[in-house]
Amino acid sequence: MKNSTADIRQAFLDFYHSKGHQILESSSLMPNNDPTLLFTNAGMNQFKDIFLGINKYNYNRVTTCQRCIRAGGKHNDLEHVGYTSRHHTFFEMLGNFSFGDYFKYEAIKFAWELLTDKDWFNLTKEKLWVTVYNTDDEAFNIWAYEIGIPQDRIIRIGNNKGIPFTSDNFWQMGNTGPCGPCTEIFYDHGDHIYGGLPGSSDENGDRYIEIWNIVFIQFNRQLDGTMLPLSKPSVDTGMGLERIAAVLQNVTSNYDIDIFRDLITAIANIIGITDVSKFSNKSLCVIADHIRSCVFLIADGILPSNEGRGYVLRRIIRRAVRHGAIIGVKEPFFYKLVTPLIEVMGVFANQLKCKYLIIKQILKNEEEQFSRTLERGLALLNEALVNVTNDTLDGETAFLLYDTYGFPLDLTIDVCRDLNIKVDIIGFKKLIATQRCRAKQSSHFNIDYSNLIYSNNISSFSGYDNIKQYSIVTALFCNNKAVDIINVGDSGGIVILNETPFYAESGGQIGDTGQLNRQDMSFLVADTKKYGLAIGHHGKVIHGSLKVGSKVEATINELRRHSICLNHSATHLLHAALFQVLGKHISQQGSLVSDDHLRFDFSHFKPITFKQICKLEDIINLYIRRNLLIQTNIMDLEDAKANGAIALFDDKYNKIVRVLSIGDVSTELCCGTHVSQTGDIGLFRITSEMGIASGVRRIEAITGKYAITAMQNDTDILRKSSFLVKSDTQNLANKIQVIMNKYRSLEKELQFFKNRQALQESIILCNHAIDLMGIKLLVSCLNDIDVKMLHIIIHNLKNKLGSGVIFLTTNINGKVTLAAGITKDLIDKVTANDLINMVLKQTGGKGGGRPDMAMASCINIVALPQAISNIKSWITQKLCCTITS
Ligand code: SER
Repeated sequence: MKNSTADIRQAFLDFYHSKGHQILESSSLMPNNDPTLLFTNAGMNQFKDIFLGINKYNYNRVTTCQRCIRAGGKHNDLEHVGYTSRHHTFFEMLGNFSFGDYFKYEAIKFAWELLTDKDWFNLTKEKLWVTVYNTDDEAFNIWAYEIGIPQDRIIRIGNNKGIPFTSDNFWQMGNTGPCGPCTEIFYDHGDHIYGGLPGSSDENGDRYIEIWNIVFIQFNRQLDGTMLPLSKPSVDTGMGLERIAAVLQNVTSNYDIDIFRDLITAIANIIGITDVSKFSNKSLCVIADHIRSCVFLIADGILPSNEGRGYVLRRIIRRAVRHGAIIGVKEPFFYKLVTPLIEVMGVFANQLKCKYLIIKQILKNEEEQFSRTLERGLALLNEALVNVTNDTLDGETAFLLYDTYGFPLDLTIDVCRDLNIKVDIIGFKKLIATQRCRAKQSSHFNIDYSNLIYSNNISSFSGYDNIKQYSIVTALFCNNKAVDIINVGDSGGIVILNETPFYAESGGQIGDTGQLNRQDMSFLVADTKKYGLAIGHHGKVIHGSLKVGSKVEATINELRRHSICLNHSATHLLHAALFQVLGKHISQQGSLVSDDHLRFDFSHFKPITFKQICKLEDIINLYIRRNLLIQTNIMDLEDAKANGAIALFDDKYNKIVRVLSIGDVSTELCCGTHVSQTGDIGLFRITSEMGIASGVRRIEAITGKYAITAMQNDTDILRKSSFLVKSDTQNLANKIQVIMNKYRSLEKELQFFKNRQALQESIILCNHAIDLMGIKLLVSCLNDIDVKMLHIIIHNLKNKLGSGVIFLTTNINGKVTLAAGITKDLIDKVTANDLINMVLKQTGGKGGGRPDMAMASCINIVALPQAISNIKSWITQKLCCTITS
């Protein structure tokens, strides 16, 4: 067998294909509708619902090569990358899966055959060690008696500190979900490499490397730690492609395998390092690892941001840029690595080819943005490190670097680690806890799956053709608990039907509303959602009571559904038109299809111009006028792809998919409901365009009667505005321009007269100033002087009085404003703020300002005269105090 990484990948898939496994594609790094996972971190993720028995599948045995990210979330290797020879943020996981088909015996036998058979990987048996979960005698016996491994090379691994199910040999996807005991296969790289056997104190060395993890999925872990047994035990295996490639290519570090060697050579060329023997250079390894994760993450629709997945991506990019700086790179370089990466990844990078330009642009923007603060941040960090006395950097500095210079914590830890300095992570976390927003975001990834409703029922959806039908109630829930009956007044009701015309929210389309009726009962449906293969109707009984087993007539709100259909078909047209107007790089980031509007989010770097908006509207309205036929076809996924269908997240692993085509302009996989011809949409109008995150734009639009009503409203506004300015609609803009010019010149003129009046007022007021201990005190109450003028008067008076204190009030329609001014020479004795606050204490109100000028609004006008009469003595006291002190 040839042993390039590409050959090994293919050999694995071929081997399992020969054992009756269907070869499936890797799923996206963005987990498909799974809020519990930050990123796809294992081959089994896309099959989670199948392991849990929530979903059924066309095959019992499958095999994949899955792209995975282990950075952030439960399985996080980011900080290890660059410091060991085997950790990655991005890696390919080879896996075989049995869904209730074979179990421990075959799983172990297949693995052993692939690893040791001379026609396959042909590894020396004596170099392989295995571990099993402490109590898993079945797996132990298979290894010992069926495979024939000497018992002293089978290691039992117990629970970590005795806590149940916490062993290295008990695998869990996350805090909840599928899990089970596992058996792992290790390869001994030889005694010239440091490291001990699994379970020993130096197991983290590089000598014994885990190459394969075979998990026996037997439980669904609940948040409280309970392990619910699954009805069909299954198998999930994972072998890191890079690790097995290192073994088969006879190198001890993953970074020495063919793809990394080629990638590191290309990186060294780009950044001008001539000595390529520096493969062991830690920074080059970090950069090579990180360019892989960043490119694949962006290709899967994740963009750098300050929250959730996007924030992890940002951290990885910044770490790579910092390592570039360590090896002396001065210019943006990271984005230049996209092209060599695509080359070395071969067929596995096929999906990247059409996106490489946008990926480069996203990386370049991010890199440039960070480079601007990197230098200053590093200088600050180095300065702080010089002053570290107890080998720990304080949490405040780490937080300042994070908050002001965009240094993620792991970057600071990285820099400190090189100098054997720790970071006060607890202190840092306390400070960050105040940034509640991010905390809120990350909790988004901790939804408790065990708390959600599970229903084993299957509901078939009849709503493509029907708006009403008779159905049987197969299950009822109230406040997430199964019940037999729902009565009037019960809240949180959910009804599961065997068959229903109600569309359950998915693929961006909102759920239907309507009614479930029988003679003696009415249930108002406010929303519809999916629970595995069941469809749940949310709402309340408005008369009578509803029991499991009842027959009901289910009727959707037809008008609302029709509006939803218009918007859904229009969304597909918008998607197609965006490709035409903006380019093929755009990729869908999300959508909402409701009855009154549609929303479409997509990756694109610039705002959409008005001209482009018009072009989009023109193209879509042309599609509408062409009255194109909208058709659906149920077909094999492979055929759909061959037909060029755009696949989004839904139906990712179903063999049979629903393909929606609109004339010759759009073909997409879609389970939503649509109109039958584009003409039904009537009219399409874009109502807004905006940026919602770095590199993500959002378009909102309306269709049908909503678009017509909006158009009529606009016409009405034009008509009324024209009437008001006495113009026809054609000349409205010019007329408004003329009025605005006139308005501005009148405003200027008015200001001129106000200044003149203020000057006159100031001259008169000046005469009312009294002498007080060598300064002037002027207190006066004015009427109808606006705040701006009051400002000017105080300014004039300060100039005129030379050294003095001014307190003025102005009453405009009963609203009284207070103003205090103090000449500069007196502000160390008394400030305008003090004076205002002294008055406000008596009158109530809010205000503030500078030491030489302050203003406030006054609440209790009745108390004002008394407060004013106190000013003189208060000032006297202030002046005396300063003289005596
Ligand atoms: N899910 C297991 C792992 O990730 C085996 O694939 O190690």
